[in-house]
Amino acid sequence: MCYAIPGQVVRIDDGLAEIDYFGERKKAIAAAGVQEGDFVYAQAGIIVQTLPAGQARKLLSYWQNIFPELKNRDKELAKRSPSKNKLLEKTLLTAMQGKPLSDAEALALLNLEEKNELQSLYSSANEYRCKTIGNSSCTHAIIEFTNNCVNDCAYCGIRKSNAAAQRYRMTEQEILAAADFACNKLGFKSLVLQGGEDPEYAKKLPAIIEKILLKCSTVIFVSIGEAGEETYDALWNAGARGALIRFETSDRQLYSELHGSELSERVNCIEFAQKKGFQIVTGGIIGLPGQTKQSIFDDIKLCKQLKAEMYSFGPFIPHNKTPLANHCAPKVDEVLKVISLTRFIDPQAKILVTTALEKLAPQARRQGFLAGANSLMLSATPPEYLAKYDLYAGKTNQGALEKEVRIAQELLRELGRAPSDIGIIEKD
Ligand code: 5AD
Repeated sequence: MCYAIPGQVVRIDDGLAEIDYFGERKKAIAAAGVQEGDFVYAQAGIIVQTLPAGQARKLLSYWQNIFPELKNRDKELAKRSPSKNKLLEKTLLTAMQGKPLSDAEALALLNLEEKNELQSLYSSANEYRCKTIGNSSCTHAIIEFTNNCVNDCAYCGIRKSNAAAQRYRMTEQEILAAADFACNKLGFKSLVLQGGEDPEYAKKLPAIIEKILLKCSTVIFVSIGEAGEETYDALWNAGARGALIRFETSDRQLYSELHGSELSERVNCIEFAQKKGFQIVTGGIIGLPGQTKQSIFDDIKLCKQLKAEMYSFGPFIPHNKTPLANHCAPKVDEVLKVISLTRFIDPQAKILVTTALEKLAPQARRQGFLAGANSLMLSATPPEYLAKYDLYAGKTNQGALEKEVRIAQELLRELGRAPSDIGIIEKD
C-alpha cells in the first residue's frame, strides 16, 4: 500500500496556509473551508484535500521514522565532489551561495565536457537542491487526450502535415476514467491534460475539468498551447490551476523558423496564464539545429522571468516523418547541464526529468535527480492512445501505469526523496 505525506495547517493568512511536515514548513493556497489544525494534502502550492484527523495521524505515525530516514539518505547522496579546476570550483561555490552567475560563468558550465568536471557540476547542483528545497519531489500524471494539432512545428511528430499520424481524441468518458484511475487508484494529486493544439476540442475541456474535480482531489494543469484568452478564462473558471506551455526556444529567429509564428505570441500566452493565477510549467527543447549555449542560458532566464513553478527541459529527439528527421538527439549530458544550471538560477524551483530525457538513456531519470531535478511526469494515457501520441521516436513506449508508479517509487526511495503525491513503496 502507498502513502503520501499529510501536513497540518498551523496558520492561515490571507488565504495562504502554512503547513507543518514534521517541523518543516511549506506554504500553500487554502481552499474554502480549510482551517487551522486541519490535516491536508497539498500539491503545486495548493491544498487539494483535507483528511480526517484519525486517518492523518495514522499515516503520520507511519511516516515518522521514514521521513528522517529519507532525509538522511538524501543528504548522504547529495554530497558534492569538489573540482580540482580552480576556476570551475570558484564558479560552483559562487552559484551555491545563491549569487547570480555572469553569462560567461554560465556558458562555461554549459560548455563543460570533462567527466570529473561534469560530476562536480551535477553533484554541486544536487547538494544545493538538498540544502535549499529539501527532498520533497512530485510526480504528475499526464493524460494525452488528443493528437490533433493545427500547428506544423518542424520537430514534432503530430504536426498537422504528418499525414501518417493516426489521429485520435479521447472521449469525455475516457478522460474521466483515466483521471479517476490515476487519482483515486494510484494516488496522483496533480493531473496534466495535454493535447496537440486542437482549439475546437479545447472548448470542451472546462466541462470535463469540472467533472474530474467532482471525483478527484487533484490540481489540474492544462497543456493545450495557445488556446486564446477566452479559453484560458473558461479553464480557470472550471477549476484548472496550472498551465504547461513550453516556449521551446527563446531564440526568436529559431522559434519562427521551427513554428512559423512569433515567439512573442507564445510568451504573451504564458504571461496571460501566469497573471490569471495559473501555476506555470515551461521550458524548451535542448539540441535544436542552430541552437547556441547562450540561447539555452537565455531559455533558463526566460523561464524565471515567466515565474515558472516548474522547469521542463528535454532533449530534441528526431521523428522520421518531420523535416528534422536527420538531425541527431543531443547527449544526455547536454540536458543534465541545463538541469544543474537551472537549479543554481532558481533554487526553489521544481525541475522536471522529462520523458524525452529518459528515452535517451536508461539511467537518465536517476542522473537527472542527481543533477538537481526533483519532479517527474508519468503518462496516464490509455495504451491504445499513447501508441499514437507519437511526438518523437520512442515516445510511446511506456509500461502499465501501476508498474511505472512502482518504478518511480523505488527510485525515489532509493534516492531518499519524499514523494508529495504517489506515496512511498513499503519495505517488507
Ligand atoms: N523532441 C523532443 N521534444 C518534442 N516535443 C515535440 N516534438 C519533440 C521532439 N521531436 C515536445 C515539445 C512540446 C511537447 C509537448 O513535446 O516541446 O511542447
